[in-house]
Amino acid sequence: MKIFNIVGARPNFMKIAPLLRAAQKYPRLKMRLIHTGQHYDYNMSKTFFNDLSLPKPDIYLGAGSGAHAEQTGRIMIALEKAALKEKPDLIIVVGDVNSTLAGALVAAKLHIPLAHIEAGLRSFDRAMPEEINRVVTDSLSDLLFIPDPYARDNLIKEGIPRSRIFSVGNIMIDTLHYYLPKAKKSDILTRKDGIGKLGLSSKQYAVLTMHRPANVDNRKTFSRLIKALTLLARDIPIVFPAHPRTLKQIRLFGFNKYFSPASNILLTKALGYLDAINLYLNAKFALTDSGGVQEETTALGIPCLTLRNTTEWKTTLTTGTNILVGTAPDKILKEGRKIILGKERKGRLPKNWDGKSARRIIRVILTTLRKDI
Ligand code: UD1
Repeated sequence: MKIFNIVGARPNFMKIAPLLRAAQKYPRLKMRLIHTGQHYDYNMSKTFFNDLSLPKPDIYLGAGSGAHAEQTGRIMIALEKAALKEKPDLIIVVGDVNSTLAGALVAAKLHIPLAHIEAGLRSFDRAMPEEINRVVTDSLSDLLFIPDPYARDNLIKEGIPRSRIFSVGNIMIDTLHYYLPKAKKSDILTRKDGIGKLGLSSKQYAVLTMHRPANVDNRKTFSRLIKALTLLARDIPIVFPAHPRTLKQIRLFGFNKYFSPASNILLTKALGYLDAINLYLNAKFALTDSGGVQEETTALGIPCLTLRNTTEWKTTLTTGTNILVGTAPDKILKEGRKIILGKERKGRLPKNWDGKSARRIIRVILTTLRKDI
């Protein structure tokens, strides 16, 4: 039973690692790791393979960056060839990136059964490329593995039969549970070549991640966010490991001057998995526009302010530590200062975010493939 596991962009690696580990117990599952090459820089890809002990990909498609159709099309062309040659019995895609969409389209067109991990999430904002990827992928999937009850409601409203939906919890949290002891040993706060220079101690700083096109590709929105962050940084230092897209936009807009020791915002390159988790764990709070950080901070019990007007991770708002603050400086400052004063929102761990999602998924795959999808 040959299974193609598709990864391509940074958040995919954390979602596939536990699945490959859980499948090791079942020799009849021949797991093949396919890397589309959507992310290719060392600190966007290889460092995650090292941190998560992922095997070398069986197939590397080398798609690289590009406009949406260009990138998705390049992945599809290469993946279709590989699938025709290798004839997998199942294709598994994770999350909502362009590699997810490309994998789903290829599977559907070749009549290969398709499984989607992290199905059913909706921000209801079609301006987000990820929302298009989610809707299309779910509509094509045979097995839909959902992380929370909202996802089930969304899928049922879209007419997906209940028999295809499986509640398995959040697979990204499997990785968090598994690697937390190792992440706690990271020396990111003291390492002299980076954040260590600031001499920060635990809970004395906030951490920021920001890379959504809606925030960083739009000059006006980006400068409004910088205004809020600069004011907030007068009260607490902000550590900002930046995605390459964000670094490119900072250079393009000439915004480098806002990120200096004087501004109390420390800009660094994107971090590997273990360093990033250590940084969140020790932060007073996080500011983010990433989906993954909303999940991880809820799981770690760290307050999170999300710099967006919508989220696909509604559970992190209802159960977790997350608050949507949008991009208006007043709201960001108000909520940031509340946390600094110790009045943060307390959350709890959502149901089934227990580190056992991969095992549940493998069990479903084994029983379903036996019956034939
Ligand atoms: C992609 C996902 C997004 C996810 C993010 C995580 C889509 C539509 N978006 O966004 O959902 O949150 O990954 O990181 O799939 N770049 C590099 N080196 C790399 C990769 C990218 O320099 O290794 C730069 C390139 O300039 C590229 C830009 O980042 O054009 C954007 O990369 P891309 O993969 O298109 O989208 P992300 O913004 O990374």
